[in-house]
Amino acid sequence: MNTAAKFLILLVVVLFSADNVITKVYDPCDLAKEMVEKHRFTKTDIADWICLIRWESNFNTSEIGRLNADSSMDHGLFQISDKYWCVEGQVDGACGIDCKALRDDDIKDDSICVRRIFRLTKQRTGNGFDAWAAWKQRCQNQNVQSYIAHCK
Ligand SMILES: *[C@@H]1O[C@H](CO)[C@@H](O)[C@H](O)[C@H]1NC(C)=O
Repeated sequence: MNTAAKFLILLVVVLFSADNVITKVYDPCDLAKEMVEKHRFTKTDIADWICLIRWESNFNTSEIGRLNADSSMDHGLFQISDKYWCVEGQVDGACGIDCKALRDDDIKDDSICVRRIFRLTKQRTGNGFDAWAAWKQRCQNQNVQSYIAHCK
């Protein structure tokens, strides 16, 4: 077997082995750009989102939060909770999504779920970011622009 064929087999094995969840650790500036251009986040509050993601997942799309007191867990870049929003191994929860899909490198489905969380929380409290403890602790009333100030 030639080297190219061996490489191809290795690639296929790697891609389809284990959980088949591909991690991506984002650069904050690339992430801000992608969120605005591809996932319909508004420029006005992108700095808040980048701050939130910094403290929720440190830009790692595969992050799993440690077990909460009620044994729920948080998934992915936005640390979406399986208490309400997703179900492991099933397309279900308030976002109708498998938690595993929130831990891969494709943040399109995460973004759709996040907007739902934001909208429902905003109806309840007046501020959609209230859904994220890290935002309240680290980003609210802080200079969040500093998280993207260096971006071109
Ligand atoms: C991303 O998070 C996953 C799950 O916690 C972890 O296994 C992986 O090492 C992390 N990657 C980086 C680069 O921190």
